[in-house]
Amino acid sequence: MKAFVVYESMFGNTHEIAEAIAEGLDSLGEVELGSVAHVAPEAVADAELLVIGGPTHMHGMSRPTSRSAAAEAAATDDELEMEPDATGPGLREWFSRMPKTGAGRLAAAFDTRLDKPALLTGSAAKGIAKQLRRHRYEALGEPESFLVEDSNGPLMEGERERARRWGAQLADRCRALDAAE
Ligand SMILES: Cc1cc2nc3c(=O)[nH]c(=O)nc-3n(C[C@H](O)[C@H](O)[C@H](O)COP(=O)(O)O)c2cc1C
Repeated sequence: MKAFVVYESMFGNTHEIAEAIAEGLDSLGEVELGSVAHVAPEAVADAELLVIGGPTHMHGMSRPTSRSAAAEAAATDDELEMEPDATGPGLREWFSRMPKTGAGRLAAAFDTRLDKPALLTGSAAKGIAKQLRRHRYEALGEPESFLVEDSNGPLMEGERERARRWGAQLADRCRALDAAE
C-alpha cells in the first residue's frame, strides 16, 4: 500500500513531525514525503492513504499574510532558521488547486500548535480535515495536534516519538480496513 505525507512548515517543527509520521507508516511498504511547495496536488491521487499537516496560524491553516508576518519577525532573529519554502504556497492554496479525486480514499490530518487548550489555540488540523472531506477523502480517525514549546518551536519533549507512534497506528488501521474489504 502507498502512503503520501504532505506537510507545510515555516520553522521546521511540522517538517520534523511529518518525517516521524512517515517513519511510523513505513510498514505499509511505500511512503512518500514532501513539502506542500514541491508536491503537486495531482501527485497524491494514487496513494491509498494521504496524511497532511501544517502549522496552526491564527487559529487555523496559515495564510499568505500570517506567513509573511512570521518571516519578517524571523528575519530579525539570527538564530532562527527558516524552511526553504516557508513563505508559501501553503495548504490553503494547495487545496484550492487539488482536484476532487479522493473518491473515498483514506486520509488523516495533523498540525503543530502551542501547548494550551485547543479552544484557545485553534487547530489547523481541523481545517485540513474539512478540506479533505470536501475533496472526498474518508477520515482515518480524528485530526491530531503535536505541540511546540513556543511560537517558533522547538517541539515539546516526546512529540517526535508520539508522531512516529501515531503514524504506526494509522498504518495498522489502514491495513485492517484493507483486509476487511
Ligand atoms: C503568524 C503566526 C500565528 C500563529 N498562531 C497560532 C495560533 O493561533 N495557535 C497556536 O497554537 N499557535 C500559533 N502559532 C504558533 C505555530 O503553531 C508554530 O509556529 C508552529 O507550530 C511551528 O511549526 P513550523 O515550525 O512547522 O512552522 C502561530 C505562529 C505564527 C508564526
